[in-house]
Amino acid sequence: MSDANREAAWALLTELTQSESLRKHALAVEACMRACSHKYGDGSPEAENIWGVVGLIHDFDYERFPTAEEHPYKGNEILKERGYSDEIRRAIMSHAEYTGVSRDTTMEKSLFACDELAGFITAVALIKPGKSLAEVDVKSVRKRMKDKAFARKVNREDIIIGAKELGVDLDEHIAFCIDALKPIAKELGLDGSAAVAPAVDKNNVQA
Ligand SMILES: [Fe+2]
Repeated sequence: MSDANREAAWALLTELTQSESLRKHALAVEACMRACSHKYGDGSPEAENIWGVVGLIHDFDYERFPTAEEHPYKGNEILKERGYSDEIRRAIMSHAEYTGVSRDTTMEKSLFACDELAGFITAVALIKPGKSLAEVDVKSVRKRMKDKAFARKVNREDIIIGAKELGVDLDEHIAFCIDALKPIAKELGLDGSAAVAPAVDKNNVQA
């Protein structure tokens, strides 16, 4: 199979991942990685596909093999069996700090820089009144990053290190990822349609 066969990558993801939120996370990181391929890669359609597939499947084994002993090692084995390239497998291995696989290429650095941040931006959108990405800006993301009680599982340090390794200003990177996610807001359930419309009080309608 081709390295960057998006359809096969999606099939692989959904074969092992039933969780709706994990699938959305995969789509979010894919969108950020596609955008990054134009900014930090050569911007070719081939590169965009490879970067996108890496984002899409970087956690594909996580639901089935969630421990640090298994993820992403088991996934790496499965990808090898299925003919995925060293380039793709190495990038996925490098996104987990504890594997000891260094992040050398801009694709590897981009994956690390987008992974936690995509999750965090999504979490910020969900607490907005309209539950939409359109309401998220850099300022609101930075504010929530300081709020330790908010989205505790997201490692702020990884977000900061990720941008640093990529050599990009953090605010610029946050804005870039918000913009990268907006075109798929609907798939992510962040287009505002999830917000419940306020009930109309018939006794209080101004004529
Ligand atoms: Fe991830």
